[in-house]
Order: sequence, then structure tokens, then C-alpha cells
Amino acid sequence: MSQREKWGTKIGVILAVAGSAVGLGNFLRFPVQAAQNGGGAFMIPYFISLFLLGLPLIWIEWAVGRYGGLFGHGTAPGAFHRLANHRIAKYLGVIGVFGPIVIFVYYTYIESWLLGYMFFAATGQLFANISAAGMQSFLLAYQGLAPHSNLWTAYIFFVITFVLNFWILSRGIKGGIELLCKIAMPLLFLFAVMVVVRVLTLGPPNPAHLDWNVINGLGALWNPDFSQLLNAKTWLAAAGQIFFTLSIGMGTILAYASYLSHGDDIVLSGLTAASTNELAEVVLGGSIAIPLAFAFLGPIGMQAAASSGAFNLGFITMPLVFGQIPLGPLFAFLWFALLFLAGITSSVSLMQPAVSFLKDDFKISHKKTIWILTIVTFLLCQPGIFFLGKGVIDEMDFWAGTFAITLFAAIEYFLFVWVFGIEKAWEEIHHGAELVIPKFYKFIIKYITPLLLIFILGFWFIQQAIPTILMHGIPKENVPFVLATRIGLVIMFLAVAGLLRYAWYKFKRNEIA
Ligand code: ALA
Repeated sequence: MSQREKWGTKIGVILAVAGSAVGLGNFLRFPVQAAQNGGGAFMIPYFISLFLLGLPLIWIEWAVGRYGGLFGHGTAPGAFHRLANHRIAKYLGVIGVFGPIVIFVYYTYIESWLLGYMFFAATGQLFANISAAGMQSFLLAYQGLAPHSNLWTAYIFFVITFVLNFWILSRGIKGGIELLCKIAMPLLFLFAVMVVVRVLTLGPPNPAHLDWNVINGLGALWNPDFSQLLNAKTWLAAAGQIFFTLSIGMGTILAYASYLSHGDDIVLSGLTAASTNELAEVVLGGSIAIPLAFAFLGPIGMQAAASSGAFNLGFITMPLVFGQIPLGPLFAFLWFALLFLAGITSSVSLMQPAVSFLKDDFKISHKKTIWILTIVTFLLCQPGIFFLGKGVIDEMDFWAGTFAITLFAAIEYFLFVWVFGIEKAWEEIHHGAELVIPKFYKFIIKYITPLLLIFILGFWFIQQAIPTILMHGIPKENVPFVLATRIGLVIMFLAVAGLLRYAWYKFKRNEIA
């Protein structure tokens, strides 16, 4: 077996995993989820999900990845095969290669808008729009969705972002991803802190409404509302956010952890990376968009802005509000820059499982792998760009960003804790650990985590999956596009499964089981 790459430093791997976790989800998805689910009502299920689902699944994914890496596997098919030693197990891992590629495909395009908006903030072009309607037309024109608009500007920024991602990936784990995260993560935090300080020192902007201020905006998020604990929808939203934000069930942490040595700690590293993500999400992410929107738009306006979705909040409300404060253009630039850095440290991680898959399971050289993936992924990105208005990206986000990650996490959990066995699993997690997880977590991992997973998957299926599968609420003219996306995703999934089968038998992996 050829020597696999390794991370250069311990802080490097922690920053890389934190970089994968801290993303658009922290600064855009989180505030929207929190506001849409009643603010304070959201935070209780959110923290319960973090402690009972998020942390256990984080440790499990790190452990499964490191274990797979022992046998030269950087992706779920190989790791699952080693855990379960059954010929079907590897196919269950296909989701862990397919899912992150699909997320990468639309995530990178949205990331490129941030680069575009950094440019528009720097040139001042953005602030010529002084009304929400103007800002919205600007966004629609950029996305090629307004009448007589074209996609050229967006496409140029997309190509730059795309090439940047693959250039970093071409430099490998240590010289590419690790180096990027060592630079980008501190910078992102610095920018975020600067924006937060600016937001928190802002006086009430509207003299007619002195209660519209950032402190009351923070209160909207932090005043607990226990009655919402009985609402399944709030739980689903909270758990979904925990999965997305921590990058659980995407296969990315698994791939990253496969480049550790068996003696490397994962308990403390996993905890540190997760805490870094939570700091970025609840402290920084929670202190920017919602309080700012509250101060400028009031409670009802803030709800309306959040309900109109993450893109509208990030690309319409935020620049509009920044346009009205002293030094606003500078802070708008920092806002888009921090989002771009958060985005790129996540998108490179989304492509890493595919890189590892081709290198480990097909024995393809790094250079060739990067070329193959550059071409294939570039083609896969096109429908989302050109048919954005037809619901293509929403469809991909539903299947890969919600369905696949939850299902994958459940399978990974089941194979590790129940098939591999909790005793071995506990021991594996603690191998080389610098910190011992409190014993009661063993009980949580064995009984509480699966109950919550079943509850969430069940409710999610009834409340969201069935209406989505039946295409409720999809405009009639979008149906063919949504259907085509679905068929495309099925073909892609089968293609990955077929490739896996081919590679497996070609290299006779079963013999070394
Ligand atoms: N975890 C990444 C995010 O929050 C994908 O955006």
C-alpha cells in the first residue's frame, strides 16, 4: 500500500475540521433557522441536539475515519466494510462519497456569489441600491434571473472560485487544505469579531423606535420559550442545523480523520473543532444578522427578512443595512469576505471524500484525480447555475444537504455502535485520547442518540420528506427541472456505486477482509 498523506500538525487538523464545519451554515442558515423557529424557542432543542446527537456523532465520525485510515481507506465504503465485514456494508458508504459531491456542486456556486459581492462592496457598486427592492433586483440580475440580465459576471466569479478550490485541493492535505485553514480560520474570526463589535456598538438607528436596538435583537434569539419543546418542527429544524453546521454525516470529517495516525487524539480534537464551530455559530453568527436586522427593521421586519430565506438575509438585508451605518461599506466587505473564507474552507472539505475515493480505491495518482474531478464536477455544476430559478439547487440541497446527511449519520452510527459494538467503539474513540469522555456518555451514545435519530428521521419523513417527494408547492413550470434533477441524482448515485463495485473487485479488496 502506498504511503498515505498525513496532517502536518495537530492544530492544523483541528483548524481543518473546524474549517469544514464553520461555513455559510453558521452565519446565514443558523440565524434564519433560529428566527423562523421562534428565536428563543429554537435554542433549547438546538443545545439538546448538540449534546445528545452532535457530539456523539462527531466522535463517531472521527473514530470511523481514523479506523478506516488504518487500512488505507479515506471514505465511507472502505471504512464501513472494515467495521461490519459484510459485503453489503461498502454500498451503504456510497452516500458518503455521493452526498458531499452534490453539496459541493451548489455550495461552490453560492460561495462564488460571496466573492462577487466582496467585489461589489469594495467598488461601492452595491450601495447604489438604497431600497430592498433595488437590492433584490441587483441580486436577481446577478443570478441571471431578472429580465434581460445575463450570467456573465456571476459565471466569472464562479470560475475563479471553482479553480481556487481545485488549486487548493491539488496541493494536497498538508500543503493545501491545512495551510488554507491555518490562514483562513484566524482571518475569518478576526473579520467576524470586527463585524460583531461594530454591530454591538450601534445605537438605535430609528429615533421613532428606541426599542429597535441590537440588545433587543439579541433578546429575540436568547429569551427561552419552553413551550416550543413540544413542537416536532422545532426539533427537526434544530437537529438539521446541528448536522449541517457540524458537517456531520457528510463524509468529510471521516475523510479528514483518515489522514490521522492511530495514536492521534480524537476526543479532545473533535471537541475543540466542534466548540470552535459553536463559537462561530451561536456567539458570532448569532450576533450579526438577527440583531442588525432587528435594529433596522424591528421585530416584524426582522422576522420577515429571516423568513424570506438565507440568501435574502445575506445578500439583500445585510448589505442594505450596512449601507446605512458609518463605515458600512467596509463592514459589508468584511461580512462577505468572512463568509467567503467560511465557505471555501468548507467546500474543499466537501470534495476531499471524492479525492480520497479515487486515490485510495482506484489507485489513481493525485494529479490525475484532481483533473478528473475538476472536469466532472465542473460539468455537474452547470445545471444549478443555469437553472437556479427552476428549483434545481433547492432539490439538490434537499436530497444531499438534508436527506443524505441524516441517513448517512444514522447508518454510520448503527454500524459503529451496534455492529462493531459499543465496547470496541468506546475503546476505539479513546485510543490515544488526551481526554476521557464522561462515562454517562456511553449510555447516551448507546440508547439516547439512536432514539433521537429514529424520532427525527421518522418525523422528518412524515412532515417534510413525503410532501417534498410528492413535489407539493413546486410551481408547475419547475416540475420537469426538479424531476430531471432527481433522475440525475439517482444516476449519479448508481454511478458511484458501480465505480465502487468495479474498484473493489479489480483490486480484490474482499480478500483482505
Ligand atoms: N458545515 C458547513 C456549513 O455550515 C457545511 O456551511
